[in-house]
Amino acid sequence: MSAPGPISTDVQPERVFDWLDEEAEKRAGAGLVRRLRARTAEPGDLDLAGNDYLGLAKDKRVAGAAAAASLRWGAGSTGSRLVTGSTELHADLERELARFCGTEAALVFSSGFAANLGAVTALSGSECAIVTDKYIHASLIEGCRLSRADVAAVAHRDPAAFTHALSTRRKQRALVVTDSVFSVDGDLAPLPELWHACRAQGAALLVDDAHGFGVLGDGGRGAVHEAGLSGSPDVVTTITLSKALGAQGGAVLGPRRVIRHLVDTARSFIFDTALAPGSVAAALAALTALRAEPGLPAQVLAAATGLGARLREAGFTTSTPEAAVVSVHAPSPDEAMSWAARCAEHGVRVGCFRPPSVPDGISRLRLTARADLTESDVDTAVRVITETAPDRAR
Ligand SMILES: Cc1ncc(COP(=O)(O)O)c(C=O)c1O
Repeated sequence: MSAPGPISTDVQPERVFDWLDEEAEKRAGAGLVRRLRARTAEPGDLDLAGNDYLGLAKDKRVAGAAAAASLRWGAGSTGSRLVTGSTELHADLERELARFCGTEAALVFSSGFAANLGAVTALSGSECAIVTDKYIHASLIEGCRLSRADVAAVAHRDPAAFTHALSTRRKQRALVVTDSVFSVDGDLAPLPELWHACRAQGAALLVDDAHGFGVLGDGGRGAVHEAGLSGSPDVVTTITLSKALGAQGGAVLGPRRVIRHLVDTARSFIFDTALAPGSVAAALAALTALRAEPGLPAQVLAAATGLGARLREAGFTTSTPEAAVVSVHAPSPDEAMSWAARCAEHGVRVGCFRPPSVPDGISRLRLTARADLTESDVDTAVRVITETAPDRAR
């Protein structure tokens, strides 16, 4: 850090943002430049990068419901949920989500990010201690930063570390925050053990089930349901509608009094335009499709397991898929980027995770399985990933 000196107020307007170029140069030097790549409507390549786990985003029932609702209710929701933005569709979706997952109530937000920000901040505050897994999603981290609570980030998937942090906290109220399925490697949080730690220490448990909902648990009811924790008076779940449901938006599920509190206090709910009617209708239609086809989640798991096994046989270091995500280690951020680009040139879209998005500093290709992935898709993926791999990847 430069030594503090006198502040110069004599800065030309065209130089005010010069520091951005310096930062960009640093990121380029570290191989951390991010690029937007436009997807075409009919990409024609094999998509192992998106989160459309059940293949519902383009399902006619789902996309058709979005179109019909947009024509009826309008393209946008016109206002905050508390002003003009709440339609009967929002209420229907909240009722159906709560019924499906076995919670007392649910509240729809405009995104999973907004749901996490709202839930973490509204359920904590300066009189609360938050204990998180150190690998939680960025949206939960932002919630913790905004919360004004005492925050401790503890060892990954380690219930004893949670218990220690809870038992040495300085605040009476406590909230444990974790992902159910961690975004980078797709590994699972030990939810039953964390819940026992919460019970023993008088804490509430907040689980982000973004990657578990629609993939894990009975008929896709999610990891919290699978752990037998849905409907517990001390458990709150957040989900996104933009992954397995193929729509857009987020939701918080839990006890009725938690939902009531969020309506009154969650700033990312109150001061945000409500989720668009088309997205709400799409999520409702996707939920109906999931109920009608309860075997879809198992197909995702089988596809992810098969993909991971084949890549390990080919000599790569991969995560062991416990949901839809399979990650493959890359030697460096630059090589991960160029590897992913070569895969795209050969018709296979894969994600690329690099610092700071990876907590352990290891860059990865990140693949996501889908229910409709065929044997021949897996053959293609493994062949392309192998043929385009950098030398030090195996
Ligand atoms: C674990 C996790 N939580 C929350 C989110 C945010 O959800 P959304 O994309 O709906 O804002 C994501 C999405 O990337 C995620 O992976």
